[in-house]
Amino acid sequence: MLLTLEWKNNYLLLIDQTKLPTKLSYVKCKNYLEVADAIKKLVVRGAPAIGVTAAFGLALAALNSKTDNLKIFFEELNDAYEIIRSTRPTAVNLQWALNRIMQKINHLTNIPLIKKVIVEEAILMAEEDISTNKSIGINGAKLFSDGDTIMTHCNAGSLATVAYGTALGVVRAAKESGKKINVIATETRPVMQGSRLTAFELQHENINVCLIPDTAVGHIMAKGMIKHVVVGADRILHTGHVFNKIGTYQLAILAKTHNIPFYVVAPSSTFDLKNHPNDIVIEERSKEEVIKIGKKAVAPKNIDVINPAFDMTPPELITKIITEKGILSPPYNRSIKKLMK
Ligand code: MRU
Repeated sequence: MLLTLEWKNNYLLLIDQTKLPTKLSYVKCKNYLEVADAIKKLVVRGAPAIGVTAAFGLALAALNSKTDNLKIFFEELNDAYEIIRSTRPTAVNLQWALNRIMQKINHLTNIPLIKKVIVEEAILMAEEDISTNKSIGINGAKLFSDGDTIMTHCNAGSLATVAYGTALGVVRAAKESGKKINVIATETRPVMQGSRLTAFELQHENINVCLIPDTAVGHIMAKGMIKHVVVGADRILHTGHVFNKIGTYQLAILAKTHNIPFYVVAPSSTFDLKNHPNDIVIEERSKEEVIKIGKKAVAPKNIDVINPAFDMTPPELITKIITEKGILSPPYNRSIKKLMK
């Protein structure tokens, strides 16, 4: 199984996802600015993975601090917090991870102890990410039968987490329980997480995967080729509204039209109990991602472009939400409240 990130005592090692699928290479982050840069450039991406990466970013900020003045130390840490937090706005796991670290240390006054506690907490979060995904997998695998074909969008696999994955973790768990599962992956324009990452990681583990253009989703569903749709999430509101990779919303509408169950798979760290749909910032990415494929221009240079990275799927299109604590059913405002208690 691919290990997306690895703590090496004084640096963080990340699979460079911008180079996949042609090259499996690594980026070394020795300070928090390198961590922020890696998140921004999508060297590491996927909500749970950027959360844990952010935690190690704070660990590096703490370890690299030279001061023995507690006030200055916390100022440095808060600067790092702000820079890492501002890298990507939509996935709630990033903020969740940074807050979890800050809450763990904000009452402490001994700098060497704070450094130790931050590193230990970040390591614990990385370990928990894997065990959480395995529990999600066990819960979700029950929904699938031997021989099922599942459609997925973007990459909610090992590469979007520390390892194992959320949506693809369910596929892995079903396979581990002896079921044969086939995956149909959408390309996921414009960054191609489906073709570059999902196709790569499933092939890497000998899980049957077939790639389709995003534009073929309706056709493939209408042909009766899909038993379930399984996607990850960047943020799930207490109302059950799900923010995930752009294109998820249209997949959910098409699934509803064709009576195909639409499952969202996420850990409890992806739930946002405070905000409402209109409060959420949808990351808008560069025009370059749309007007070029690799280095090749596929649109006129001076064309206007809208390039949102995420969209919102309303609760009425979601059949179940699969978490490590159990499977949620509608009405989600009630089931989410009960789960998060
Ligand atoms: O822009 P990305 O690649 O970070 O977007 C990733 C997604 O939208 C995933 O589906 C989501 O983070 C869930 S990953 C377990």
